[in-house]
Amino acid sequence: MAKITASVYTSHVPAIGAALDLGKDKEPYWQPVFAGYDFSKQWIKEEKPDVIFLVYNDHATAFSLDLIPTFAIGTGAQYAPADEGWGPRPVPTVQGHPELAAHIAQSVIQDDFDLTIVNRMDVDHGLTVPLSLMFGNPPQSHFEWPCSVIPFAVNVVQYPVPSGKRCFELGKAIRKAINSFDQDLNVQIWGTGGMSHQLQGARAGLINSDWDNRFLDRLISDPAGLAEVPHIEYVREAGSEGIELVMWLIARGAMEDVAGGKPAKPVHRFFHVPASNTAVGHLILENQS
Ligand code: DHB
Ligand code: FE
Repeated sequence: MAKITASVYTSHVPAIGAALDLGKDKEPYWQPVFAGYDFSKQWIKEEKPDVIFLVYNDHATAFSLDLIPTFAIGTGAQYAPADEGWGPRPVPTVQGHPELAAHIAQSVIQDDFDLTIVNRMDVDHGLTVPLSLMFGNPPQSHFEWPCSVIPFAVNVVQYPVPSGKRCFELGKAIRKAINSFDQDLNVQIWGTGGMSHQLQGARAGLINSDWDNRFLDRLISDPAGLAEVPHIEYVREAGSEGIELVMWLIARGAMEDVAGGKPAKPVHRFFHVPASNTAVGHLILENQS
């Protein structure tokens, strides 16, 4: 059977992708950001996931005000890096896993979560930057990502956005779906975006390190309590784009301890300010059961 072995949480700042693509990752500003992922790159080489279920948000790239799905699952065979205004990032096309994705769609929709099914879309920095941080950019000689990826896009851009509670409950349904897939697959679930940041208005530039670190503490040890945090607290404390953090609760809800298993084991935690306009947060939790 398929099994979720670990969850990974990370910010997805677009400037991180640009820094890597332009060879600036050793510069003094960026070096400490990338250093926070040295452990993770080694860890994932050893873990060798077959599939990553990657929860992220589209930033008006594949979707727009024309069409606003709250939750959208990618059931296609592949997804090209999007052109976000500077040309597509020079990273490999993402290979999907249509069979597992279709199974998850079937199971989760029958569990009363309304998903939009997407067979064709381009993927923006929300999805490609986490892949670059965890794997590094693949060399030209072997230009592919090491595993399949199922993109799962959440609307955290245009109001109304889903609550942390609903995201957490959705994570539980995703866990059940993956655990009932009849192929031996090592699956990881990633929650991306955040941490605190605000890109516009009078409070542009807002970062709240204390709140972010409490979020990380509670994500580890009190995820059900954290899921009760109302939307308005994200906006007040973590800025208008801090709401991206509700996506981390989808990944957390899919861990075994939430369903009565042994506690999830933190194997890596990292926090750094600033990267572009945000606080960068990163966490890896392993299932022990
Ligand atoms: C920035 C951060 C984001 O998460 C994003 O999606 C876009 C921009 C920034 O720091 O500028
Ligand atoms: Fe973002």
